[in-house]
Amino acid sequence: MGASKRTLITSALPYANGPLHIGHLAGAYLNADVYARWLRGMGEEVLFVCGSDEHGAAITVRARKEGLSPQEIVDKYHTLFQSTFQSIGISFDVYDRTSSPLHHRTSQEFFQKLYEDGQFIEKESEQYFDEEANSFLADRYIIGTCPRCGHTDAYGDQCEKCGSTLSPTELIDPRSTLSGSKPVMRSTRHWYLPLENHEEWLREWISTGHLDGAVHHDPASWKNHVIGQCKSWLDAGLQPRAMTRDLDWGVDVPPAIPGAEGKKLYVWMDAPIGYISATRKWAEENGGEWTRWWQDEETDLIHFIGKDNIVFHCLIFPAILKAHGGYNLPVNVPANQFMNLEGNKISTSRNWAVWVDEFVRDFPGLEDSLRYNMIRNMPEQRDSEFTWKNFQETHNSELVNNLANFVNRVLVLTGKYFQGQVPAVALTAGFVDPEGQPTTIDHWMKHLASQVQAIDSAIRGFSFREAMQLVMEVSSAGNQILQINEPWKVFKSDPKGVEPVMFISLQIVAVLSRVLRPFLPFSADRLDAFLGCPTEGEQGRIEEVVKACSQGRAILVAGHQIGTVGHLFDRISDEVIDDQIARLHATRESSSAKADEGPVAVEPVKGEIQYEQFAGLDIRTGTILSAEKVPKADRLLKLEVDLGIDQRTIVSGIAEHFQPEAIVGQQVLVLANLAPRKLKGITSQGMILMASGPDGKLYFVRPGESLSPGCIVS
Ligand code: 2FM
Ligand code: ZN
Repeated sequence: MGASKRTLITSALPYANGPLHIGHLAGAYLNADVYARWLRGMGEEVLFVCGSDEHGAAITVRARKEGLSPQEIVDKYHTLFQSTFQSIGISFDVYDRTSSPLHHRTSQEFFQKLYEDGQFIEKESEQYFDEEANSFLADRYIIGTCPRCGHTDAYGDQCEKCGSTLSPTELIDPRSTLSGSKPVMRSTRHWYLPLENHEEWLREWISTGHLDGAVHHDPASWKNHVIGQCKSWLDAGLQPRAMTRDLDWGVDVPPAIPGAEGKKLYVWMDAPIGYISATRKWAEENGGEWTRWWQDEETDLIHFIGKDNIVFHCLIFPAILKAHGGYNLPVNVPANQFMNLEGNKISTSRNWAVWVDEFVRDFPGLEDSLRYNMIRNMPEQRDSEFTWKNFQETHNSELVNNLANFVNRVLVLTGKYFQGQVPAVALTAGFVDPEGQPTTIDHWMKHLASQVQAIDSAIRGFSFREAMQLVMEVSSAGNQILQINEPWKVFKSDPKGVEPVMFISLQIVAVLSRVLRPFLPFSADRLDAFLGCPTEGEQGRIEEVVKACSQGRAILVAGHQIGTVGHLFDRISDEVIDDQIARLHATRESSSAKADEGPVAVEPVKGEIQYEQFAGLDIRTGTILSAEKVPKADRLLKLEVDLGIDQRTIVSGIAEHFQPEAIVGQQVLVLANLAPRKLKGITSQGMILMASGPDGKLYFVRPGESLSPGCIVS
């Protein structure tokens, strides 16, 4: 522990096409931030880089939607990202952007070198072209049915339902999102990286950790789901991958290369090079050498990403780096899974998200509570979930009742008993430990050192949830020590007798103030002020306490005067939380969705039917008489519907869209001769016709005029 290593930490460059939500934070930023801050605290050399990903169809799709130019879009979101990351305490050493001239130059130099070294194959291929829009189609502009899961709105590069990475030609029934038309194949020339030539070393590197015959990393330290995804790609056989595109927006293929005109770099070629450009920018501004971070084997490179970026960081970017030569490859890519929200996938287009900029605006002073909840629920090994109720619960029961309560009790009692000064106590003085056993201060300090070492191991193993838990255990132990030693009782008869327990409690608060910083940096600042230890940056500050504790030395020495004590956290009330839940549901239902992740799906017309098939449908007007939720079925409502000819029960999958009481009296159209079906034990006799709006909401279809129940629709 504490070996002076150098680590380059990257967080995925977020697309500058919409605000950041909690899923982003939990995926690739908070974990990286805790890691970077912890390593700094341990006195290690760290560079933490990130920036906005400003190219690719994600940007142009958004620009079309908002009626702005791509440059205007990236300017808007880049600025928002900078302030959002800062406000939630993400401690990047540099936050760059891929539209910067330095990045264009860096990625062009990279491309040029690969070209000159013969690393590309140039080939003519057929690609999807939209004849109406007169444009080749970026993968994101093509949607169709996912060949893996049948989702009908999968993108040409990825299915967001099952998470598969796709290529546009794999889509069934592809359609262009520019015009809705069926795209045609047209010939175009591009530069490809023959990934199949890299398959062998990639497989060895991923599975054994060996690179060029030497040990590079320990594959046992990689997450199983990361290795699993890579292996499944490798097993399927790697294919040449085009590194250029026919686009208007992006990094130009270096103009000296014949045939470069009109061609841009593939966004997944330029974006990860953005990590290098960001490092160069940092070096230019801080006078360091960027090559120390990328080309010196003493530096460990670690990419923090979400699971949808695994193949790009574990196979494609490493192949690009290796093809170039001279660069380090990542020693780990601890990808996280996804975080869901209140039972549903976070969705930008459906406005089902907690936006980080809105959170910090609405909850000033609670930035760390969000960080805490996200770290506790980090989707490290599997998808996880954020709920507002859980946010309130972790805040109230863990941050308030455990941490803030402990800190407050210790500091208030110190004020009361010793006028805020750390008492002078022999380090061999005794008190009772949480198990009820007698112990001594120096012994307990060593115990604290081993706790900090356990936190260190958890963090280095990318187990941030566990690390957070271990930090809170330090505070719980402190509370138990107070509880068991009862200084408030002892003080009445033996004021000197409380000194050892107060002394160790103060040391525990001091340890907490150091080890909390990577997780809850804003609270650590407050805690430092309470303790009268002004914050002096974070470099080496955890290492100091590890050294002191392991030698059984005190951190706050006798006579030290603590500062003004305040509350670390106050309780969050039910009203505040209920308000957030209501807002989440309300904004989803409003049509003013925030940014959109991608194009609105255009559904192709279904296969032809004959008139007789249509005439067989008995569709009637009806009125909903009553509606209630079906127990244990989130999506179902049980409706009683007056159809004129009869009254019947219909079970309808609309519960996520309507409150039962709001739809009583609603006129509807009902498919009346659908064979009865049992749903959750209830026989449903028909189907309510609904229209799906472009916002993903369901709408009732009803006659233009009010009609009595039972009228036939034909
Ligand atoms: O998935 C995304 O949001 C991408 N913009 C991540 C890019 S990571 C890196 F390669 F730049
Ligand atoms: Zn799918």
